Amino acid sequence: MSKITSSTLLKFKQEGKKFTSLTAYDASFASAFDTEGVDVLLVGDSMGMVLQGHDDTLPVSVEDIAYHTRCVRRGVQRALLISDMPFMSYATPEQAMINAATLMQAGANMVKVEGGHWLLETVTKLTERGIPVCAHLGLTPQSVHVFGGFKIQGRDAENAQRILDEAKALEAAGAQLLVVECIPAPLAKAISESLTIPVIGIGAGADTDGQILVMHDVLGISSGYIPRFSKNFLKQTGDIREAIRAYIDEVKKGVFPGIDHTFS
Ligand code: KIV
Repeated sequence: MSKITSSTLLKFKQEGKKFTSLTAYDASFASAFDTEGVDVLLVGDSMGMVLQGHDDTLPVSVEDIAYHTRCVRRGVQRALLISDMPFMSYATPEQAMINAATLMQAGANMVKVEGGHWLLETVTKLTERGIPVCAHLGLTPQSVHVFGGFKIQGRDAENAQRILDEAKALEAAGAQLLVVECIPAPLAKAISESLTIPVIGIGAGADTDGQILVMHDVLGISSGYIPRFSKNFLKQTGDIREAIRAYIDEVKKGVFPGIDHTFS
C-alpha cells in the first residue's frame, strides 16, 4: 500500500483518474474511510457546524483543528491528510506560519486556506518553508457574512473571470491543490483544465479532478438537512462502509455528481 502524496494526486490528474476526498474528525471514521480507499481526508473547519453545532465555521480555533488532526492522524495510513486553517488564523503571513506549523506538527500533510489574491504572499511563504498548501475558492465559508449567506459564487462573467484568475495566481504562488466550492460546473471545468495542479470540487459539477463531501452529508446526519449538491449514500446502502464504497465508485465512474447535484 503506497501513501497518497501531492505527487500521486498530480499523477491521477495527468492520467485522467478521478480521486475522492471526505472530511473526517476522529480516528475511527478516518480509519474506515482510509481502509475503503478514500484518497484525501480533510479535517475541515466544517466541524464548527457538524460537530460543534454552530451556524457557521467562524468559532473554530487552531487548537480545535489541531486536536482533531491528532485524532484523525492515528486512524490514517494511506490517505493524504489536509487540515483547515480556521478563521483569522492566517490573516498575516506571520500568523499563518505559526499556526500552520502547529497543524503540521499535529499530523497534517498539507494545510488549506480560503481566499484569492490577498493570500498569494502567504501561500509562497508557507510553501518555501516546507508547508504544502491547498487553496480554496468559490463559496469560502469563512466569508459567509461578506457574501450575505451560503450562496453560489461566480455566476456572472466578471466574478467567474476573477475566480479563474485567482486560481491561476494561487497555482503560480505555489499552491499544490485547489478546492472549488459551489460554483457553476462550466467554471469549475475551465479552472480544472487551465491548471496543472489537481482541482477538487464540492458543488462544482463532475469535471473537476477530484470530489470532496462532508462526511455527515454522505451519511445523512447533518441535522436533517443535506445541501443540494451533496448525496446521502447511506440511504442507498444501509451500511457505512458500503456507503463509502458507493461514493468512491460513483465518483470514479463519473456518475456522482449528477445533474441533480450540479449548478449549471
Ligand atoms: O471545512 C470543510 O469541510 C471544507 C469542505 C467543505 C471543502 O472546507
